[in-house]
Amino acid sequence: MITLLSHLSYVALVSPDVEASVDFYVKKVGLTEVARKDGRVYLRCWGDYYTYSLVIEHGEEPALATMAWRTSSAEALEEAVSRIEAAGVTGEWFDGLDIGRAYQFVGPWGHSMTLHWDARHFRFEEGEHASVFPDRPQKRSKVAGAPRYLDHVTICASDVDAFAEWYSEVLGYRIMARTVLEDVPLSVFSVITTNEKSHDLGIVLDGSSRSGRVNHFAFWVDTREEMLIAADTLIEDGVHIEYGPTIHGIGEQSFLYYREPSTMRIELNTGGYRNYVPDWEPNTWKTSQGSYDIYQNGTMHASLSESFPLTDGPSATEEGITEEVRDQLVAGSSSDR
Ligand SMILES: [Fe+2]
Repeated sequence: MITLLSHLSYVALVSPDVEASVDFYVKKVGLTEVARKDGRVYLRCWGDYYTYSLVIEHGEEPALATMAWRTSSAEALEEAVSRIEAAGVTGEWFDGLDIGRAYQFVGPWGHSMTLHWDARHFRFEEGEHASVFPDRPQKRSKVAGAPRYLDHVTICASDVDAFAEWYSEVLGYRIMARTVLEDVPLSVFSVITTNEKSHDLGIVLDGSSRSGRVNHFAFWVDTREEMLIAADTLIEDGVHIEYGPTIHGIGEQSFLYYREPSTMRIELNTGGYRNYVPDWEPNTWKTSQGSYDIYQNGTMHASLSESFPLTDGPSATEEGITEEVRDQLVAGSSSDR
């Protein structure tokens, strides 16, 4: 298969209070608001190469509105759409802000995905955000530890392996790794990628009855030191760090989690390996091998099983699950599949 997708370009999120979320992203995360259109607010990290990487729109519950990937060419966009439709899924074309003609569809597990080739190569040419460096689209944020780029998104699906296989077969994602429970061959987490990163799309097992949920999305900072400064700054700003800073086993990134006012989980992420192997065979981890946290000395936080929109049902987390949630997921997996 030709390479269809190049990388994650933006994530659109639903917030019950758009202004509170936008204020948080601007003042506490260090993003820049670049546009408002049709009720949506468009934001960018200082290093993003296109106009925006985060869109906030209004809705009753925190949720994923869509996740967008840029294709590798105009022809790849057409090929991706024909492969999606050959797989029995039909989407719609629309004209997006600075992305031209784009295709949006809802995948088999209920997640909206947007594909586009056109993209504005963004740069502040003048004014307070203009950088002195030719390669920088924008001056570095003055918020300490502000992320440079959008990094990845992690969604929830009722069958982790089937999700990974569908996106691999239809759109060419490489499946990089998976985590199974200690005593049951049930996949609770997997990572897939369109490029050399360990993942730009994560999948956690969802035992709830709602489809299309999201567990978190992630920004990139250049160094672990910047991430630690971000953690320090967030705490000084009254933001609770939900987990971390520590290091994932899968991907080997340093990371931490916190929440924005909608309760949506944000990850800060840096480091880890690059993998360029085109015929990579995914390894299977067990949670006891440190797939989630290589140090394995943190307390399991029940809040990490919360995904969005919130439901009464459990989802797994990347580190595994509590005993209660485990029992529900194992029971659900045998009846739902
Ligand atoms: Fe993540």
